[in-house]
Amino acid sequence: MAEDIRRLFEPRAVAIVGASRNPAKIGHKLVDNILASGYKGSVYPVNPSGGTVLDLPAVPSIDAIDDDVDLACIAIPAKFAGEAVRACADRGVPYVAVITSGFAEVGALAEEREMVAYAAERGTRILGPNIFGIYSAACSMNATFGPRDIQAGNIAIITQSGALGIAMMGKTRAENIGVSAVVSVGNKADIAEADLLSYLADDPATKAILMYVEGIQDGERLVRELREVTPRKPVLVIKSGRSRRGALAAASHTGSLAGADEVFSDVMRQCGVLRVDTIAEALNLSKFLATSPRPRGSNAVIITNGGGIGVMAADAAERFGVGLYDDLATLNETFSDAVPAFGSTRNPVDITGQGTVDDYRRSLDAALASEDIHSVICLGCETALLEPEPLTRTLESVAQRAASDTPVVMSFLGGAAMDVVVEELRPRGVPIYGDVYEAVSALGALYAYERRPATMTAPETPADIDGAAIREVVDSARAEERGFLLAHETRALAIAAGIRPPASAVASSMQDAVRHAEAIGYPVVLKVVSRHILHKSDVGGIALDLEDRGELIAAYEAILHRCRQAVPHAVIDGIEVSEMVRSGTETIVGARRDPSFGPVVMCGLGGVYVEVMKDVAFRAYPLDRAEALTMIKEVRSYPLLLGVRGESRKDVEAVVDAVLRVGAVLAANPDISDIEINPLVVYDEGEGTRAVDVRVILDDPGSGGDA
Ligand code: ACO
Repeated sequence: MAEDIRRLFEPRAVAIVGASRNPAKIGHKLVDNILASGYKGSVYPVNPSGGTVLDLPAVPSIDAIDDDVDLACIAIPAKFAGEAVRACADRGVPYVAVITSGFAEVGALAEEREMVAYAAERGTRILGPNIFGIYSAACSMNATFGPRDIQAGNIAIITQSGALGIAMMGKTRAENIGVSAVVSVGNKADIAEADLLSYLADDPATKAILMYVEGIQDGERLVRELREVTPRKPVLVIKSGRSRRGALAAASHTGSLAGADEVFSDVMRQCGVLRVDTIAEALNLSKFLATSPRPRGSNAVIITNGGGIGVMAADAAERFGVGLYDDLATLNETFSDAVPAFGSTRNPVDITGQGTVDDYRRSLDAALASEDIHSVICLGCETALLEPEPLTRTLESVAQRAASDTPVVMSFLGGAAMDVVVEELRPRGVPIYGDVYEAVSALGALYAYERRPATMTAPETPADIDGAAIREVVDSARAEERGFLLAHETRALAIAAGIRPPASAVASSMQDAVRHAEAIGYPVVLKVVSRHILHKSDVGGIALDLEDRGELIAAYEAILHRCRQAVPHAVIDGIEVSEMVRSGTETIVGARRDPSFGPVVMCGLGGVYVEVMKDVAFRAYPLDRAEALTMIKEVRSYPLLLGVRGESRKDVEAVVDAVLRVGAVLAANPDISDIEINPLVVYDEGEGTRAVDVRVILDDPGSGGDA
């Protein structure tokens, strides 16, 4: 795929359909930007009236070009664009960037689909429509109508929003960041993020990838691609359009808890992608991740001249997952010569308000020379002792020396003097920020990237799931045109899936009931089984916690008596004898078909308050055991499973197992849209779980797969 998509990023010849002599037109700006960017391939303006555009002869049509055009940019109105795309496809142009607006985004979906289908049949891929174009540093090509002078660098940007993309290009220029590629994907009628990632992963100039996403179409493919890319380079995502569609369409807890945004966040974390909220944050973090060395370990040290900012940084470190080094003896040994006697060698290392530029240099040198210190947060508040000019020189030289093996972030606060230091150093690539939080969050992003999930081992599907039995249950419900499974079907499905519901059997006589109870083991529960009695407890049709044979016999008779009195006409089919489920920790485990990501699994705190607490986590399926465990650990109430107040640790492995089983059942059965176990009662380690209530919802056959 990377080889295939290469021609989009490194075309040998480019045609601009709609190239114009009029400098106000987009077709003119495209030619101007391509020429100004130093593109070395051939450029062919296409305009039916001929003449020249920026001194290049214009050809009347794409057919008139006697060259291998790899990329054609379409910049003519929508009513003509379809015809122009078809001409490019007939001509065998592999990539067509449709700049033109006026397709699906204004309701013209059919025209858009028709254009893409025609092109696809001829092997032509469409970028857009509704885009500003593509910039690629690999061949110095600015085929956009955005800024003319884009600075080459090492961040790749893929953006769904045109205007934001153009703004980001401007910002990278102002911040002296530099980009390796900028691709506007617009309506994503054909080419989407997943198509572009493999090229960017291979591209040596690209050190970090930033995506602005509004909606995901083929989430399963995107997940696969991201999992391939993130071990090689950091990927950051800004996601807007926090849709409620998924939640509204949902028919179960799992669904209503699966707000599209929560699922997106969790799945991105699963893929090792860092999610950010603002453009400024995205650019700051991308720049830092693209340029910083990787930390050798987790020991960070704060060096400061002010106690207050040191404490703020320590708070921020905790929030952003930066581990502060706390070996007091080593810290003292490392910093005792650099820190004045009235300062502190603890972490934060405090050179005090009396600290000079020289004190900074000595303490930073000591930190960089230490084998035990793996990253540095250098902070300062303006004092009369900090001369901006020597401070700037010292910090720049420290940043240069650290560049090969120790991540360093800096923040200096105060008035104009400190602003000068920050403004001078930032464009020179020094990771210095006007705010402590910004500095620590950059280091936190680096550590979050380091902690990304390991590459997935083979996806785990429990081998003992009885697929044929599950299929049979689903087919029988389908045959009756039901969208859900009945209690006995759900039970059969759970057993076939290896998920243990409470043991149970229906007795037709007292002797039968005794036999079943003895096989199940006391205590047991009795429940009347009658199609005429819907609310069993209202008529005294249930007896709980029966400890022995005597209690069982008495309860059996009492149930029959009460039911006959309350509903004299009721046909009693039998009495169900069930295991009395011991109390344990209540969890919820489920799987559903997400509109963006396909099969997703979830787990969380279960019970009746599940929708209030919303303490759940999600993952795209397939996943391995390690990732299922990571998901469980993300649930806020996870410590309940570790045992609180002297309780023993619960059987977390059995919860992992249940997650993998519901995921496997959903993935293997396209007819099932939701499976939910709530509560899944978890017992002490080694004692397993009980699926007390299981619900299974079938997909609406007419919905085309969406739950
Ligand atoms: N082949 C080649 N050239 C043609 C053809 C054709 N079939 N038909 C017309 N042309 C020529 C025209 O004669 C004109 O050249 P001229 O100036 O020499 O006469 C040129 O192509 C452009 O055609 P116009 O009709 O003048 O179209 P105009 O430039 O006004 O608009 C455009 C075309 C820019 C594609 C417009 O329809 C459009 O979609 N604009 C929005 C673009 C956009 O916003 N995209 C999303 C970007 S992301 C963001 O939000 C920033």
